[in-house]
Amino acid sequence: MLGIIGGSGLYELEGLRVKEEKVIKTPFGEPSSPVVIGEIGGREVAFLSRHGRDHSYPPHLVPYRANLWALREVGVKRVLAVSAVGGINKLFGAGDFVIVDSFLDFTKQRKSTYYEGRFSVQVEGQNEVARLLREKKVVHIDVSDPYCPEMRKLLIEIMEKQRLRYHPAGVYACTEGPRFESTAEIRMLERLGADVVGMTGYPEVVLARELTMCYASICVVANPAAGISTQRLTSDEVLELMGRKEREVKAVISSFVYMLPPERGCECEKVLEGAEV
Ligand code: HPA
Repeated sequence: MLGIIGGSGLYELEGLRVKEEKVIKTPFGEPSSPVVIGEIGGREVAFLSRHGRDHSYPPHLVPYRANLWALREVGVKRVLAVSAVGGINKLFGAGDFVIVDSFLDFTKQRKSTYYEGRFSVQVEGQNEVARLLREKKVVHIDVSDPYCPEMRKLLIEIMEKQRLRYHPAGVYACTEGPRFESTAEIRMLERLGADVVGMTGYPEVVLARELTMCYASICVVANPAAGISTQRLTSDEVLELMGRKEREVKAVISSFVYMLPPERGCECEKVLEGAEV
């Protein structure tokens, strides 16, 4: 099943024929929203709201581990995330979509792994993830290409077909938030190769991967990052733009659900092979 994580401005998915709403408790706490199981065009999907339906979880306090665990628990194998970002690369204007292909992590106080060795949470189950946790393994996963190539390719195809303004690759810098960045921070990130900046893309991508799920992100440039334009940054600006892009985002998601091959053709599933110490 496909899991969809909605970010700022995307708290529900209309067009989703809701079948069931699951309140899930996980060994990593409660997710930020119930998982809504429904159908889009006859295909089953699971939807979760990253910041909660009332947007009460700030980026640094989103229960990322619980969220990904909950999606996996309902049978999700691939996760499509939607995120608002600030544009750093001068070619990435407000309203553009970016199918990011790598990240830079500047977060500071988030649990970014399930695998904590002797400190691992104990879980039940016969699968590989449960075994690694139960045996208190130290696990290093490869994130050379953290975003699923197959999902990215399909997103690019859809962006082309729907004639949207988009960038087929980009580096996502994740900051801790909840404040926006300083002009100097953005200048630094630009020099380090970041194209866009957000506060929620990490550790979401890595946690999905640790659970052997595919992950891709539709980033929407909501504003020029600090100092790229001379205006003061506001949440109003971000939410206003996300509101304007909502129709397009939902059209992309619908096509994605429709066109996604039922079986995975990528290597994401194999990420735990040889990863334990
Ligand atoms: N910085 C960080 N996160 C963001 C931004 C930004 O400029 N815009 C939307 N999310």
